[in-house]
Amino acid sequence: MKPLIPNTFGLSVYAKQVETATSVAQLFQYWQRAKAQNLPVLILGQGSNTLFTSDFDGVVILNRIMGTVVRETESHILLHVGAGENWHQLVDKTISEGIKGLENLALIPGCVGSAPIQNIGAYGVEFQKFADYVEVVELATGKITTVLDGQYGYRDSIFKHQYGEGYAIVYVGLTLAKQWQPVLAYGDLKNLNPATVTAQEIFTHICRVRQQKLPDPAVMGNGGSFFKNPVVPTAVFETMRANYPNIPHYPQASGEIKLAAGWLIDQCGLKGYQIGGACVHKDQALVLVNTHHQASAQDVVTLARYVRNRVAEKFSVWLEPEIRFMGKVGEIDAVKLLAQDS
Ligand code: FAD
Ligand code: EPU
Repeated sequence: MKPLIPNTFGLSVYAKQVETATSVAQLFQYWQRAKAQNLPVLILGQGSNTLFTSDFDGVVILNRIMGTVVRETESHILLHVGAGENWHQLVDKTISEGIKGLENLALIPGCVGSAPIQNIGAYGVEFQKFADYVEVVELATGKITTVLDGQYGYRDSIFKHQYGEGYAIVYVGLTLAKQWQPVLAYGDLKNLNPATVTAQEIFTHICRVRQQKLPDPAVMGNGGSFFKNPVVPTAVFETMRANYPNIPHYPQASGEIKLAAGWLIDQCGLKGYQIGGACVHKDQALVLVNTHHQASAQDVVTLARYVRNRVAEKFSVWLEPEIRFMGKVGEIDAVKLLAQDS
């Protein structure tokens, strides 16, 4: 019987082997053993940003390198964290110990080691704000490199490119300024009083909002936002605004405009739209769900393709998946797959 691959979509997908690595040496050992058997390898955290389009014909290594070391300087708290630690538990622990800064990033599923990869972000804050260094191991040689410049962008970093394939993240260094400023610019955080609000209050508020807005993968399989919010040139945005004066939009430092993919999908009337066991979430159109844990990967892909085509027809904007797609032997190009006819 093949082992199940953990994934928050709740899909029944299997690998030849699933191994759990609790140290760098063990991770390296599993990788070498798989390579000696000519098997493809996938390093995985908690599978909360991954859509397995089929079974995986190789070895999945779950990174469970644990441990957190806290140091401090006069101005900063420094955290050295094992890549296998749970992100939300880290946020929770820091806040309850009076270490401020990570509160806006509460309740994001997944491992600490995955956070730099897509530069996780929520409620006006991104991982990069706290990034000190990321330690990666080159799997072919066992060589460890400390990466100081993660080249972070919106849902992007060097760990999807130069340090992607062939590398595993093993430790993450975070630096949190002792002089704390609340970040209250996003959504209804604006209603909190910046003069009196505490990090604990923001943490509690964000946990509550997220629990109301986003489906719990344990109840309804999903991977969070399925698509990225598209970033378009100002001229494109102005044309859209002429037709839709209330279109949500977020000006970027680059001068371009970020749109809300959930709003675009919603405007197509797709909330609740279902293909097989996969459905556009009825409250948050950017989240595709495996409603009764009975969807196949094909249902999810077909639904994603349908949503992407409808949005392009109505708005001439092509959405790109945020979720990473994994095929039989490794990552597959999600845009290419969705661009195919069926
Ligand atoms: P996985 O899905 O296990 O892995 C993601 C990718 O990274 C895969 O390609 C994998 O091969 C690779 N990888 C994993 N670990 C390593 C490693 N140690 N070394 C090298 N490569 C590795 N994201 C946000 O940014 N903001 C949100 O608000 C947010 N909300 C979410 C809400 C829900 C309900 C869900 C289900 C997801 C949400 N996400 C959000 C997405 C997800 O939580 C993040 O992308 C998270 O960082 C993924 O962590 P993971 O360990 O599950 O990654
Ligand atoms: N909206 C609709 N209809 C919908 C969904 C959204 O009209 O069905 C509108 C909202 O009313 C709002 C706007 O779209 O005006 C943005 O919605 P929301 O604040 O819910 O955020 P989002 O853009 O859908 C992004 C991130 C989330 C992150 C939240 C909060 C991406 C792809 N998604 O979602 O991250 O938690 O902002 O900061 O950037 C994830 O990456 O998996 C994820 C959940």
